[in-house]
Amino acid sequence: MKGAHIARRKLSVLMLLSGIGLSGCADPAAEALKKGQQIWEGTCKVCHLNGIAGAPPMGNSVAWKPRIEKGEATLVSHALNGFTGNEGTMPPRGGKPALTDEDVTLAVRYMIHNSQ
Ligand code: HEC
Repeated sequence: MKGAHIARRKLSVLMLLSGIGLSGCADPAAEALKKGQQIWEGTCKVCHLNGIAGAPPMGNSVAWKPRIEKGEATLVSHALNGFTGNEGTMPPRGGKPALTDEDVTLAVRYMIHNSQ
């Protein structure tokens, strides 16, 4: 009986430690991708999932290669200010003026990360 009690206490300490590991010490790069994913799903996905209106679909490395070669700074600037290319028109901030520069940057990074 006593042994089982100690084992249970050890288990709850372990659960506590792993809980702290998940919330308190999260990897900042993973956090940024997660935020980027939220912005992407809320604003960019409508065009960039299936290539609506000529948008390069996320995950399509052929469509993204020549874009990624322009460099992240150019892509972020085009996403912030809007961009008309050979395929169509990318609206400024994906058509959501309320998004901050950081929001848009994280969404661009998320798309680049998933389209290499
Ligand atoms: C209404 C549809 C639409 C929405 C919403 C949209 N995009 Fe686009 N996006 C486009 C189109 C169309 C293009 C391709 C333009 C071209 O190259 O002809 C594009 C291109 C891009 C490019 C590549 C630019 C370049 O220089 O090649 C980036 C980066 C981008 N979008 C980011 C985003 C982000 C980030 C969001 C969400 C915040 C977003 N887009 C939302 C339509 C959209």
